[in-house]
Amino acid sequence: MKKVLKWIGIALGSLVGLILLAAAVMALTANARLNKTYDFPPSDITLPTDQASLEFGRHRVEVLCAGCHGPDLGGIEAWFSNPALGRIDSANLTSGEGGFGREAASVEDYVRAVRHGIDPEGKPLFMPAVISGANLSDEDLGAIIAYVQSVPPVDHVTHGRNFTPLAKIMLAAGILGQLPVEAVSHEVHVAASAPGATVEYGEYMVNTNDCRVCHGPELNGGPYPDPTIKIVTPNLTPGGELVSWTEDQFFAALRTGATPSGHALDPALMPWKDYSKFYDDELQAIWLYLQSLPKLEQYK
Ligand code: HEC
Ligand code: HEC
Repeated sequence: MKKVLKWIGIALGSLVGLILLAAAVMALTANARLNKTYDFPPSDITLPTDQASLEFGRHRVEVLCAGCHGPDLGGIEAWFSNPALGRIDSANLTSGEGGFGREAASVEDYVRAVRHGIDPEGKPLFMPAVISGANLSDEDLGAIIAYVQSVPPVDHVTHGRNFTPLAKIMLAAGILGQLPVEAVSHEVHVAASAPGATVEYGEYMVNTNDCRVCHGPELNGGPYPDPTIKIVTPNLTPGGELVSWTEDQFFAALRTGATPSGHALDPALMPWKDYSKFYDDELQAIWLYLQSLPKLEQYK
């Protein structure tokens, strides 16, 4: 009897050992993924200098970047923070102390961050915005970079990424999904259709403003991207509630958060306060594009 117990004990002991070994291997794999260096051909984007382009850059940055990097682009501490997974600060983008604007050697360094998801050394960034950033046209990205380089310096040293060993194991096991650099297509040049209230421009707006990140690749809803928030997002195709909305009601939902059924969209989950700054023709284009989609059933 005792002997059997002893064998069970040894078996259990070695199982625990095996699990620890597997965990160590996975943490190392995750480290290798996070420390891998990438290289992509330069975009050779030239920055615009005219006032209209800078103003357009400001508009894009307000909607696309300020939510995560702060209204003055000085970076946000503990932008993501979870006791089990660790903490990530978003970067200070300005030329002040601790700012990317001081560290970046060239325009390509910005392109590498936003379009490819890598830092100036070629290492992966943990910036989900790259999924949309990779679709920004050369022109839009040029205007964005020109504007970012023009903002007043903010002195603010941020602390980058601090993942726990558990987060690294989950990363290696694929539970935290792909790194942005592993997920995007890495085009060298990206063109956009001309701005205006068209279906084509609406598709461009949807692809560059994270709608698919939350509402799913087919826009019929999906799991929320933050794995600690367990909700499913609504269907934006004609298979969902929007099929009975008017264009005015769509504008009201994205500008005030109020839907026709009287529901108030939670700005912490659905960033309508950022989207409320879209120009009229941008919102109209998105509306036209959503209406042109095939009718799909709500993702469950
Ligand atoms: C969803 C949140 C989010 C959005 C939106 C976002 N960023 Fe970031 N950004 C981050 C985080 C978090 C980091 C730090 C990532 C890391 O340390 O791995 C970062 C880092 C950066 C860096 C620093 C790269 C480096 O090498 O240190 C640059 C440059 C940058 N972002 C530019 C932008 C621009 C320009 C936009 C708008 C087009 C933007 N970001 C939108 C969250 C965001
Ligand atoms: C960060 C995640 C996230 C992003 C990005 C996002 N949404 Fe949402 N959206 C949500 C969530 C969550 C809800 C439900 C919110 C609630 O009920 O409070 C929602 C609700 C909506 C609704 C209301 C739908 C209904 O049936 O009531 C519309 C319309 C909408 N989003 C459009 C968009 C568009 C267009 C974009 C891109 C420009 C977008 N969303 C980007 C998360 C997101």
